[in-house]
Amino acid sequence: MGEGKLFTIRKFRLEDLDAVRRINKVFLPENYPEYFFRSLYNNCPDGFLVAIVEDKVIGYIMCRLEVSYSLFKKIKWAHIVSIAVDERYRRKGVGTALIKGVIKNLADKVDGFYLEVRVSNKPAINLYEKMGFEITKRISKYYMDGEDAYLMTKWVSKGEKHVPFTYLV
Ligand code: ACO
Ligand code: ZN
Repeated sequence: MGEGKLFTIRKFRLEDLDAVRRINKVFLPENYPEYFFRSLYNNCPDGFLVAIVEDKVIGYIMCRLEVSYSLFKKIKWAHIVSIAVDERYRRKGVGTALIKGVIKNLADKVDGFYLEVRVSNKPAINLYEKMGFEITKRISKYYMDGEDAYLMTKWVSKGEKHVPFTYLV
């Protein structure tokens, strides 16, 4: 980050859309059309955050609110669909701050958080484990190139633990 360049976390605004899409495209193989980012923002504005350094977007996290049913009990989830930090600003706590931000904003609205991550993505898996996520299952050939995913879950509610229903995004 260079000396003294602080980052801030704030909610995504539509004017950030191009910058977020650029970071998504450069740093992740999973890319989405513009309407997808807009639909996540509409679905869960409190779960769509950006990290800013000197007025520029250097990272983002976006979530979708979902429900699943277990023995007719409705379970509410925040699905962390995508997170990325510009590689020039990594290992400085930005990813941690983005995840803490969505947990703070959504923890009282959901029973748990979940995400999928490539089994080879050790930096991300380490980050999620530090944030209290656990590997709950391995999903065979989840990604387009055939790689498996880990489903990782963090429960908020103290009661029974459920494994979320998932689908491809
Ligand atoms: N190697 C090992 N552990 C790592 C690494 C690494 N390269 N990077 C982060 N970690 C772990 C460490 O435990 C670290 O804590 P420490 O620095 O005190 O040791 C902890 O994660 C927190 O690191 P942060 O600095 O908060 O994370 P960062 O800002 O670097 O962002 C991220 C992490 C988002 C995974 C970043 O590496 C990235 O953008 N990667 C490319 C995109 C990506 O893979 N996104 C996740 C895809 S899965 C999904 O989106 C649901
Ligand atoms: Zn997902």
